[in-house]
Amino acid sequence: MSSDEMKQRAAEAALKYVEENTVVGVGTGSTVNYFIDALSRIKHRIEGAVSSSAMTTERLKACKIPVLDLNAAGPLPLYVDGADEVNHQLQMIKGGGGALTREKIIAAASEQFVCIADQSKRVDVLGAFPLPVEVIPMARSYVGRELLKRGGQPVLRENFITDNGNLILDVYNLQILEPTKLEAELNHIAGIVTVGLFAQRPADVLLLGTADGVQTIQA
Ligand code: 5RP
Repeated sequence: MSSDEMKQRAAEAALKYVEENTVVGVGTGSTVNYFIDALSRIKHRIEGAVSSSAMTTERLKACKIPVLDLNAAGPLPLYVDGADEVNHQLQMIKGGGGALTREKIIAAASEQFVCIADQSKRVDVLGAFPLPVEVIPMARSYVGRELLKRGGQPVLRENFITDNGNLILDVYNLQILEPTKLEAELNHIAGIVTVGLFAQRPADVLLLGTADGVQTIQA
């Protein structure tokens, strides 16, 4: 079975977490695209969605799902998003699609975070996937030096500007043994907008698409 089929299975399984007449937080990426397609089948049963990126907004609109502003929607009961890596505590590396800042905001504003992923995303230790860090453009070199001091190898993502007008440094060579501590430490570096480490606010449920079906894993 292909990883796309496993992603689709996980995405379809997330539908059962959607409650009637609520607003759903929607992440970004290829797995989430399957979720949006599934959500469009029940769009008459929800009020709408809060989007984490321009890409997701475009797809939601194409599916005629109303896109609402987070400030107007208030706290959300549910956020559904993918991950680049997820460990056994359901802490994640995210931001492969560059939408980490808005994703982190919606995750923080949501009661339940359901992560949807294919089995290749499951890891024992985070860090084999380069950690995306969103930085204010003028801080790029300074932040790069600070990351080097901490043992990372920052690489500027070429030809990429985030939806917030910032840059992404992808940080290689990290073996993240203490995700919560590293997230807190990197959050204190001036010029970093968001670290793609979702450890302080991990997922609550992981729906892992495998060749044998979807595994439901609770934090
Ligand atoms: C985007 C993300 C995505 O959730 C992550 O990159 C996984 O993407 P995909 O579902 O395409 O594998 O964090 O910023």
